[in-house]
Amino acid sequence: MNKAPSYGTGSSSDRVNPLATASGSVTDAGSGPPIAFLHGYPFNRSMWSEQIQELSSRYRVIAPDLRGFGDTSVALQFVAGADGGVPKRQAEAYRTKTTMEEMARDVVALMDELEIDRAIVCGLSMGGYVALEFAHLFPSRVQALVLAGARAQGPDETEKDSREQQARRVLVEGMRFVADSMVPKLLAQRTLQEKPEIVSRVREMILTTKPQGAAAAQRGMAARRDYSSDLPDIGAPTLIIAGNDDRIRKPEDAEFIHRGISNSRLELIEDAGHLMNMEQPEAFNHAMMAFLEA
Ligand code: MLT
Repeated sequence: MNKAPSYGTGSSSDRVNPLATASGSVTDAGSGPPIAFLHGYPFNRSMWSEQIQELSSRYRVIAPDLRGFGDTSVALQFVAGADGGVPKRQAEAYRTKTTMEEMARDVVALMDELEIDRAIVCGLSMGGYVALEFAHLFPSRVQALVLAGARAQGPDETEKDSREQQARRVLVEGMRFVADSMVPKLLAQRTLQEKPEIVSRVREMILTTKPQGAAAAQRGMAARRDYSSDLPDIGAPTLIIAGNDDRIRKPEDAEFIHRGISNSRLELIEDAGHLMNMEQPEAFNHAMMAFLEA
């Protein structure tokens, strides 16, 4: 089932009227303990198709397009005035930055709307930052955590600069150069050589991402916190998944998170790159099922 949620509000001055942003989209399938799947950058909820198909036989699976991606709107539309809540003017503007906190607040607003009290929160890469932010802000809403291709450390100056460069460039040139430069790094050598259908699916997802949404998320990732000091406070059982051929988030990043969260388990998937859940769906689903059933 796909439905359009009204997303929650951001915490910054460009607070958005949630009713005006009710053009988002979420897949909600199956029944059982809820799992929220949070996609990476610059993708959308369709990257979880294989997990939705498999896990919805035992779980209620929700997979939203995060703010600015997939079927969500990137336009600010109505900007609330200083008197709060009342739409004052229709803005032509696009949001310039979407923080990980705003995305985490969107997820909790979605859970409220769907009457989900606690969920297993599974995030990949950017979705992993959002999951870590979610666990920090709303620990009582997390039943378990799954972090794939994730990194806890914050960005250094070089990373911040390169994110700003990419944000500016996508606004001028669109997403093609992102697809050209990212696809060879996102996927394992074996996937690139043997799974052309995955290569084209990933490329297509990038090309259909709206530049304004991508730029805003890049700036949000550049502004993200360092989550390292949050790790010891995470009490929820946590599964950390890494691809052995991930050149964007290395297995060392996963080991760092594993050392920080005492109640955690680490799984390494062979012949998998950054998009391990698409590249090796059986191994990924098996790791998740084994963890959740334990
Ligand atoms: C992702 O897959 O979400 C991105 O690689 C995240 C990032 O750029 O850190």
